[in-house]
Amino acid sequence: MAPTITDQEFELFQSLIYDQVGIKLETQKKTLLVSRLGKRLRELELSSYQAYYDRVNGRGGEEELTRLVDLISTNKTDFFREPVHFDFLREQVISQAQVTRTIRIWSSASSSGEEPYTIAMTLCDGIPDRSRWDLKILASDISTRVLAKAASGIYEEERVAQLPQDVIRRHFLRGKGEQSGKLKMRRELIDMIAFRRINLMGPTFPIRTPLDVIFCRNVMIYFDRPTQSTLMNKFFQYLRPGGYLFIGHSESLQWIDHQFDYIQPTIYQKPFE
Ligand SMILES: C[S@@+](CC[C@H](N)C(=O)[O-])C[C@H]1O[C@@H](n2cnc3c(N)ncnc32)[C@H](O)[C@@H]1O
Repeated sequence: MAPTITDQEFELFQSLIYDQVGIKLETQKKTLLVSRLGKRLRELELSSYQAYYDRVNGRGGEEELTRLVDLISTNKTDFFREPVHFDFLREQVISQAQVTRTIRIWSSASSSGEEPYTIAMTLCDGIPDRSRWDLKILASDISTRVLAKAASGIYEEERVAQLPQDVIRRHFLRGKGEQSGKLKMRRELIDMIAFRRINLMGPTFPIRTPLDVIFCRNVMIYFDRPTQSTLMNKFFQYLRPGGYLFIGHSESLQWIDHQFDYIQPTIYQKPFE
């Protein structure tokens, strides 16, 4: 039997998750937390939520915190999800970079990699002479589990099934033998991407070169308005003037403080001056 959680213990988790990850765990989520964490407590042979809290909050608790985030948030993603952003990359970002032939993109909540690989496929298809270009993608997430999956570049057949055959042929290799039923991204795409664990709640990000585009899609929904606003101000600093911010379709910057110019739904630009 899983232990029950007291109100006081639940509040401890609420503040821990908010402070460390920015996710506001509403009181209605108590049952969800218990149902998802119960199994983990049994695995660790812990008899109370307080004991689990101490483990996450104590020395070396970082890894367990990551597991906790995995349990309470979703990693749902897809190749070519919300395609308007990839159209914009192809039609605007690539053509605006013809002179410098340099593009830097950050997929800031990259989950299992479908988003950064879609960016890589879009750049490769849109830039025929790409050996003469300098193209770099940073893919980051708080969860090391999804990042490892992303870095492997290996996907089950059904994840890829909805893609056009010519896209699959150009960008994936079909597994054989033990790997049959799986597809692997081609090496040149994997090599375009650096995978890193970055917590969006960190005070600064390990990024030195100003970025052309930041993808921050379908993660802001977990954050409250002050947290969203702080994050948008941080993103602003890491973009070059004229750089773009893409957010998810169910997200909006309408009610939060920010310095971006609105371009079209879910697309914002850092002003040139
Ligand atoms: C729903 S997925 C979005 C994936 C992709 N951007 C898309 O739109 O398809 C949300 C991701 O945000 C990550 N995440 C949640 N809180 C985070 C934080 N504080 N810092 C970085 N990543 C976070 C989760 O681990 C998860 O993989």
